Amino acid sequence: MESIKIKLDKIYDFVSKNDVFSYKNEISKHILAIENKTGKGNDFLGWLDLPSSISETEISKIEKTAALLKSKVEILVVIGIGGSYLGSKAVIEALSNSFEALNSNRKNPLVVFAGQNISEDYTHELIDLLDTKSYGIVVISKSGTTTEPAIAFRILKNHIEKKYGKEEAKQRIVAVTDAKRGALKQVANNEGYTTFDIADDIGGRYSVLTAVGLLPIAVAGFNIRKLIDGAKHIEKNSGNNVAFEENICAVYAAARNALYEKGKTNEILVNYVPKLHFVAEWWKQLYGESEGKENKGIFPASVDFTSDLHSMGQYIQEGLRNIFETVISIKEPNSNVAVPTDSANIDGLNFIAGKRIDEVNKMAELGTMIAHVDGGVPNIRIELPKLNEYYIGQTLYFFEKACAISGYILDVNPFDQPGVEAYKKNMFALLGKPGFEKETEEIRKRI
Ligand code: PA5
Repeated sequence: MESIKIKLDKIYDFVSKNDVFSYKNEISKHILAIENKTGKGNDFLGWLDLPSSISETEISKIEKTAALLKSKVEILVVIGIGGSYLGSKAVIEALSNSFEALNSNRKNPLVVFAGQNISEDYTHELIDLLDTKSYGIVVISKSGTTTEPAIAFRILKNHIEKKYGKEEAKQRIVAVTDAKRGALKQVANNEGYTTFDIADDIGGRYSVLTAVGLLPIAVAGFNIRKLIDGAKHIEKNSGNNVAFEENICAVYAAARNALYEKGKTNEILVNYVPKLHFVAEWWKQLYGESEGKENKGIFPASVDFTSDLHSMGQYIQEGLRNIFETVISIKEPNSNVAVPTDSANIDGLNFIAGKRIDEVNKMAELGTMIAHVDGGVPNIRIELPKLNEYYIGQTLYFFEKACAISGYILDVNPFDQPGVEAYKKNMFALLGKPGFEKETEEIRKRI
């Protein structure tokens, strides 16, 4: 099997090969610190050997639970936020038919999400849908106390129990949470739901290869073993025994930090296939939460090309020159559509007649890269041979490992997210949560 590849030739007008390679020794030390668990946040490294260590028992339990849910439901509602939903959303979107939601002959349940926002209209519209469809719930929260999913679960638990009765509802709800702590664990124990444990040493945004990601992905009909195999391939090829040049995680971490050092403080993840939109959302969470702290960090943004070339393309070409792009390119599409010949040729497109759409897309990609480099925007390119479980598995692990290395280069703890608490404190104070009386008094003076 092939490997995803990284190409740096379009950054060398901005940084030298020496700049990138100057990280070699430092990165070797960081990889050792990750492997030996001696660096910052070392109690959150459970994801590191997950691809090679996930047990057959766990995989089978996920597959069996997915099969049971598939036999019962038309719609699976995954309740979770942040790392508890973005991984499965990313993989399902990347691998699904773009119009799956409209396919009435679907073989697998449609996976929808809740608890990733607090929009009343979203919740109402979801309930309207669930009134008319057979459904089940996978509720995911490592802490078991996060407000957004807790609200969604309270509402949908109530709904599903009314719809099916308490006993049947229990068969349709699965909880993924901490092995011992948290309100969700307590409810799951009280009700007797099927549960999956999230290990203490795996943080939300590094949890896609646990039941957090794998269960919804399996329900959506995808082969989780191939996903894990892909991740395993990168795990094997990104250790300290692998030469820097051969280690794509090390090379990516070095390249983006070399660019950051030169003032390229914003990284835009670019795709040319809209199915990768949520891979970028997952990536933004991974890098934003891992690196953005202590007044440091590359700001992660994303665009979908060529759509966004007609909007954000202007800024990228000519705006503030503090950005670089990382382009994810899919070498070979899964289908084949060519541009037809038209004898009238009123649109003037006969010069591309007979060409596959993908050839046009690839020329758009190449042309844009050259234009952006000319405009002062360095480009890193990551190529996936195909869009399938195996290469998406490689991509997920690649970004996780590179993120840990990159966080260590920045000298931050890439596994915590202390800044996320600030909004929660204010929200609880404004809502008058018991225990927040002092904060409530203080914040009310400011509004
Ligand atoms: O990466 C993280 O740790 C966070 O984004 C969490 O995944 C998110 O806050 C949800 O937390 P929980 O799973 O505890 O509900």
